[in-house]
Amino acid sequence: MKISIPSPTWALLCMSWHLASLASATSTVYIKDSDTTFALNLPKDSEHVNFYMAVPDLYQYVAIGFGGSMDNMFTFIVYPNSNRDGVTLSPRLSTGRTEPVFYPQAEITLHDGTRLFNQTLFVNATCTKGCRTWPGGEIQVPNPAQAMSFALGPSYGAGSDDKEALLRRHQGYGSFGLDMVQASSTSFLELPPAGTSSGANLPKADVIKQDGTDKGATAHGVIFAIVALLCAPFDVLVAGALKKWPTLHMISSTIYLALVIGALVPGIQISRTYVMTQNFRTGHQILGLFTIVLMFVMAFWGIFLVIVKKGAKKRGEAPPEKSALLGKIHKYVGWLIWILFLINNGLGLKLADASRTFILGYAVMVGAVIVIMMPIYFIIWRCTRAKKDKEEAQELDNIYNHNYQNHHYENYSNQNQPPSYR
Ligand SMILES: *[C@@H]1O[C@H](CO)[C@@H](O)[C@H](O)[C@H]1NC(C)=O
Ligand SMILES: *[C@@H]1O[C@H](CO)[C@@H](O)[C@H](O)[C@H]1NC(C)=O
Repeated sequence: MKISIPSPTWALLCMSWHLASLASATSTVYIKDSDTTFALNLPKDSEHVNFYMAVPDLYQYVAIGFGGSMDNMFTFIVYPNSNRDGVTLSPRLSTGRTEPVFYPQAEITLHDGTRLFNQTLFVNATCTKGCRTWPGGEIQVPNPAQAMSFALGPSYGAGSDDKEALLRRHQGYGSFGLDMVQASSTSFLELPPAGTSSGANLPKADVIKQDGTDKGATAHGVIFAIVALLCAPFDVLVAGALKKWPTLHMISSTIYLALVIGALVPGIQISRTYVMTQNFRTGHQILGLFTIVLMFVMAFWGIFLVIVKKGAKKRGEAPPEKSALLGKIHKYVGWLIWILFLINNGLGLKLADASRTFILGYAVMVGAVIVIMMPIYFIIWRCTRAKKDKEEAQELDNIYNHNYQNHHYENYSNQNQPPSYR
């Protein structure tokens, strides 16, 4: 028996097959510049989210987020485990341009195929709960162009088993659109050929925006290096040894204080960016803030001393006895502040995860400044000391001679033996 099918029917059959093959593909983006694949499937009438990632292990992490900006963004972040023989997947939320925070409400099951293989991190997973909506956002299921973002961590990372592992600032990021209609057209994940996109919309140019250094962090570090290696030693020198020039100390300490405030502002800004520093509880932050408070106290202390001394001078009196002690405290606390800044810069470099070479370089500079400073300070101290001793001796001599002359004829007992000082 011969079945004849009218040609329009053939055409229809072919067309529907073609449509089906298009629709069956999961929405997949392939970002060539970072050799990154992300595929998404949203089974109908389900809370589930099936997803797949294949990313090179060159980066500290790779993040794929739902949303066009980091405000209220839900993100899948993947990084190598601590042995670098598997992967860690961490669902996170971000609320602005800050480090995303682990979001345990997203319940994720990892399937076979999740592994680190051929220098590539593979994730084959289903989120069974909490990934379609989150505080401040949701996957817009009927949206043919859901705004998505991706980010690449800096190019080194030890790996971690911890889903709350600390993340450094991304070195590159970008955005794309993903078709949620296509993603929800099947109930399972089906990948297009490797290295191709399907149902994704990548920008034509500048797929990855470079974002290497945090300018605020650099400014914070550079200014504090100048403060601790130049300003503070100079000011300590001026304040301690060159007592003859109080105006110079006032100028240098004002510049010193201004730079510290100038470095503090970006410091606070970076602190807000990272989970670890948001509560101002790290040693570097505590010591830094303590030192700055101490510096302000010493600034007011110094101004108070100047006023007291000037007042006494105006009244033609000697400065109050206590002012000498207060001046000494002011001077030694100034030294302490300098030392605290030197130490705290080191803690800051550690907190910023600076390379060992960098920390060593800083230590060498600290050593050099101390080696240069010590003899200069000593020479100036000796010179002023010698001068002061001479002046004091002269003064005592005058007093003695004056007294001696006055009492010369009255005090017979000591006549032949002038009383010696001390
Ligand atoms: C992902 O896991 C599912 C369920 O175990 C499996 O059927 C599928 O083949 C896996 N896909 C890949 C790409 O490994
Ligand atoms: C390993 O990765 C490279 C580059 O991504 C690829 O060309 C190669 O086919 C992969 N090898 C295996 C065994 O999958």
